[in-house]
Parts: sequence; C-alpha cells; structure tokens
Amino acid sequence: MISHSYLSELFSLDGRVAVVTGGSSGIGRAIAGALAQAGASVVIVARKEPELTATVDELTAGGCRAAWVSADLGSRDGVRAAAEQAADAFGEPDILVNSAGINLRPPMGELGEEVWDATMALNLEAPYLLGQRFGPGMAERGFGRIIHVTSQQAHRAFVQSGAYGVSKGALESLARSQAEAWSPYGVTCNTLVPGFVMTPLNVRLSSDPEKVAALAARTMVGRNGLPEDFAGAAVFLAGRASAYVTGQAIFVDGGFSVH
Ligand SMILES: NC(=O)c1ccc[n+]([C@@H]2O[C@H](COP(=O)([O-])OP(=O)(O)OC[C@H]3O[C@@H](n4cnc5c(N)ncnc54)[C@H](OP(=O)(O)O)[C@@H]3O)[C@@H](O)[C@H]2O)c1
Repeated sequence: MISHSYLSELFSLDGRVAVVTGGSSGIGRAIAGALAQAGASVVIVARKEPELTATVDELTAGGCRAAWVSADLGSRDGVRAAAEQAADAFGEPDILVNSAGINLRPPMGELGEEVWDATMALNLEAPYLLGQRFGPGMAERGFGRIIHVTSQQAHRAFVQSGAYGVSKGALESLARSQAEAWSPYGVTCNTLVPGFVMTPLNVRLSSDPEKVAALAARTMVGRNGLPEDFAGAAVFLAGRASAYVTGQAIFVDGGFSVH
C-alpha cells in the first residue's frame, strides 16, 4: 500500500524555513523552487531585483511561501546585513543553501588579487559567515541543514580552475568542519557537486555547441546538467530523510566525475 504520510515523513519540508543564496538564477533558483514546493518558506538572496521578484512571484503564484533579499554577498558587511534581513522574513532558518557563486576564468598567469579576492569573498567567505550566523542556532534548536554548491573543480583542474577551484575545494573542507561541529546536534552539512550545467554562469562555454557536445559526451547519462536535476537531491538533503548523511560531497553530474 502506498503511504503518502510515509513519503511526507521522509521528505516534507512543511514548517521549515530555508535561505537560498543565488536563489534567483540557475541551480539556486531550481533548488529554491524545489524546497518551496516541498513545503518550506524560502528566502532567496541575490543582487538583482528583477530576477529576485520574478522568482518570488512565480513561487507565490504557485501557492508557495517565498520572500527575497537584495544584497551583495561579496562583502562581509553585505553578508551580515543580508543574514539579518533574511531571518526577518520568516524567522531563523532551518535550512541554508549556498548557491551564489562566480567563476571568473583568467589564465593562471594573469590571475590577479582582485579576481582572487572577489572569488573567495562570494564563493567561500559568504558561506562561512552565513554558517557562523545560522549554524549555532540550528544546533541549539536541534535541527539544521547546510547545503553548499561546489564544483568538479573542488576535485580536479578543469577549464582554468584558477581561484574558483580553490574556493570550491575549501568550501568542501568547510562543509566537513561544519559537519564535525554541528552534526551531533542534528545539523547536517553537505555539498552538492554539479558537472556542467547550462546556466547564465557559463554562458560563454554553453554558447559554443562543440564544447557543449564534448562536455555532454564526458557524462555517462549523455547530456549536460539542467538546474532541475538538483531538485531531488536538494529536497533529500534538506529534509529528515538525510539525517545520517553529513560531511559528504554528493555529485549530481550525470556520471561526469567517474567517467
Ligand atoms: N553552472 C555550472 O555548470 C556549475 C558547475 C559547477 C558549480 N556551479 C556552482 O553552482 C552555483 C550556482 O551557479 P549557477 O550556474 O546556477 O549560476 P547563475 O545562474 O549565474 O546564478 C548565480 C546566482 O548567484 C547570485 N550572485 C552572483 N554574485 C552575487 C553577489 N555578489 N551577491 C549575491 N548574489 C550573487 C546571482 O544573482 P545576482 O547576479 O542578481 O547577484 C545568481 O542568483 C555556483 O556556486 C556555481 O559555482 C555551477
């Protein structure tokens, strides 16, 4: 007999509050939509208001609870202000998803301090600061889920990894440190590792049909990723079902990493 209460016990996010950085585009937007449709009240954080409002309008039109905060997560003050505003919307979050990220790709020899600093600030320091802001509260309340979005480049050099790969490698280490600290209190910390996903982030690469086909051929599934591919893994990692999964890097990459 199919039991819907069994499914909802495992996967429902009813009553949960989620903050999703980068929730207005690409992978973050798909994750925000998935968490909201699974029952969470979702606050998305990014800079551009038109994309933020369009995303929230779409979610609320579908009967979901959603709000947005416009902030530049590339500065520490920006992150701190965004965290307070995000918590004001629906209360302290149970789920934090760090999807906001940039990938600037100067050749290694030309990688300057500006690109290095900007990359570390958004891709690594913002997740660290948001974790410091929300993690202890999650631990105190006895439930929390922190989900970072990293990259193949946390594991291998790939298309001028430069500072980006360093930031993503460190982010996976951060997830393990957070997991070590807070898992005893019901807070799991994991990373989702995409392959090549067609989003605005890699518009230069994804507008070259030959490169797109070559990357698809490197997967086992035979195609590149879509933002929607992250929905199921995100709902799983955000919910009760994943209580014993922590400190892990979960590859959602069509087999790219093992081909
Ligand atoms: N696409 C891929 O193939 C791929 C592969 C591996 C890993 N990833 C990772 O997946 C994550 C999401 O990437 P995506 O492909 O979905 O990219 P995307 O479509 O470009 O989305 C990036 C999001 O981050 C926000 N953002 C960028 N800079 C920000 C800032 N300074 N402050 C606040 N928000 C900022 C953007 O909104 P605003 O511009 O409005 O601020 C947008 O919502 C990133 O961490 C990326 O490194 C992507």
